[in-house]
Amino acid sequence: MRHKIKAASTFIKTLVKSPQAIGAVMPSGKKLCRAMVKAIEADQNSIYVEVGAGTGVVTKELIAAGIPPHNIYLFENEINFIPKLKILFPDAHVIHGDVQFLQKHLTALGVGKVSKIISSLPFKSLPQSVVNNILEQFDMVLKKDGKIVQFTYSVNQPYSETFKQQYGFEAEKQAYIPQNIPPATVWLYKRKP
Ligand SMILES: C[S@@+](CC[C@H](N)C(=O)[O-])C[C@H]1O[C@@H](n2cnc3c(N)ncnc32)[C@H](O)[C@@H]1O
Repeated sequence: MRHKIKAASTFIKTLVKSPQAIGAVMPSGKKLCRAMVKAIEADQNSIYVEVGAGTGVVTKELIAAGIPPHNIYLFENEINFIPKLKILFPDAHVIHGDVQFLQKHLTALGVGKVSKIISSLPFKSLPQSVVNNILEQFDMVLKKDGKIVQFTYSVNQPYSETFKQQYGFEAEKQAYIPQNIPPATVWLYKRKP
């Protein structure tokens, strides 16, 4: 309980400092986090990149689903979240860094292409140039048969038609979580056969 209050307070402080980058009024609820993990089809062998880890609510569910923490690479740009992520997930790889440079970070860690990207990045509130850079990085680091899971508060798909056409991805709606605040939809992206 004390941890939850502390995490909520860090989230609110960071939201006030960087509203565009946080893009949410509170951390994702358990049902949304579980729906994200279900959509990514957790297995024990894949390498997982989680981007926009925040207070670690999605990470917690990835580990609860049986993914070995050492297979998880957590990226978070806001320094306020990093110490707690390191304490909560000592065996995962916690990276304080901008996902616009995802490939560079992974290469420095000796990681090549990855199978799964789980993203809570607030694409609807980030500047378009940042969104374009990040989506380019997703395409660069994802294996041919890799998958991306992304949630959105919008009624529209989180990634543009241009992204899908440019990189040959298709989107599948996986779940709608009306209980989340705000209600959210989970989308799965994979390359067209
Ligand atoms: C909507 S919050 C999600 C937090 C948490 N995963 C959850 O579901 O509650 C988005 C997170 O993405 C992070 N973020 C935004 N832009 C980023 C970037 N370019 N690189 C890394 N993290 C970023 C923010 O700092 C924030 O913690």
